[in-house]
Amino acid sequence: MERTLILLKPDAVQRGLVGTIIQRFEARGFKIVAAKLMQITPELAAEHYAAHKGKGFYDALVGFMTASPIMAMVLEGNDAVRVTRAMMGATFGPNAESGTIRGDFGLSKQYNLVHGSDSPETAQREIALFFKRGEILPYDRPADAWVYADEDR
Ligand code: RTP
Ligand code: MG
Repeated sequence: MERTLILLKPDAVQRGLVGTIIQRFEARGFKIVAAKLMQITPELAAEHYAAHKGKGFYDALVGFMTASPIMAMVLEGNDAVRVTRAMMGATFGPNAESGTIRGDFGLSKQYNLVHGSDSPETAQREIALFFKRGEILPYDRPADAWVYADEDR
């Protein structure tokens, strides 16, 4: 099973959309294996978004991500990186298709509610940035017998 890092950004927490967004991922079948509300430091934001350093929107992005708590989580499931990003929609709210998280709840380019790792390799790096080993809790979920058929495993 693949894992990915999902961040519910400060706008999601401030707008009271945490439960609504988590509900979508749970209903799709993803298993939450780690979760915490956290205030991220500029240093952590800089490491997380290192690929964007030097771009015009970088300083504003770090300011946004550190302005208020976020909810960080690790989701586990088949094809987790690709499927969660499809559920999030295009980066900018106005471009995101209806039916996606950004397309149903956002109109802003920067305040786009949610982050998801963009490859399995990125996911490994990002999960290690936000969670210590003992904060990730593998557990059996009997309902998975009805989320996945034998051929999906
Ligand atoms: P994320 O990393 O947050 O999951 O978003 P993403 O892959 O869809 O988009 P990415 O290109 O990685 O951009 C990271 C975040 O920076 C903000 N952004 N603002 N104003 C702008 O031109 C601009 N471009 C990017 C967004 O908050 C975006 O999610
Ligand atoms: Mg990205």
